[in-house]
Amino acid sequence: MIEKKINIRYEEYASVEEMSLEDQKMVAAALEAQKGSYSPYSQFQVGAALLLENGTVVKGANQENAAYPSGLCAERTAMFWASANYPDVAMDTLTIAGSDHGVLCESPASPCGACRQVMAEYQKKQGKPLKIILVGSKRIRKFFCVDDLLPFIFDSLKV
Ligand code: THU
Repeated sequence: MIEKKINIRYEEYASVEEMSLEDQKMVAAALEAQKGSYSPYSQFQVGAALLLENGTVVKGANQENAAYPSGLCAERTAMFWASANYPDVAMDTLTIAGSDHGVLCESPASPCGACRQVMAEYQKKQGKPLKIILVGSKRIRKFFCVDDLLPFIFDSLKV
């Protein structure tokens, strides 16, 4: 037996001003996207802003339902809409912001497993890394590929 370790890489920013102007715009778009949240059951508002390779920014927000599993996370509303409307355009950066009862979480909300798997699917399809930015009020995290959020991806790009 040998013990193995894996490293994940991400950047952490104490404030949005430390980020590139392009990333700052994406953070603003994810915060704006929260307005589209329909979350009467959880009161947890999630906004997602997805920058496509052609410069288009697609927004998504979580949509809940009285029959709970019928709802969908913000990230997947954005990715599915983008894939349905721009099937041949690569996804560059997905920025996510989550607020509890209207207050942005201090530590950024992290995407659920199902959303990570969907990110992995589109990253694999496009053959290029999908970057992810997670926005919190005290810290912002930037990941440079889905692999760092989902090690040992099912059907991974890595061997
Ligand atoms: N939610 C998202 O939109 N994205 C995630 O990755 C995790 C959770 C939503 C689902 C539900 O509407 C609310 O947050 C509370 O779980």
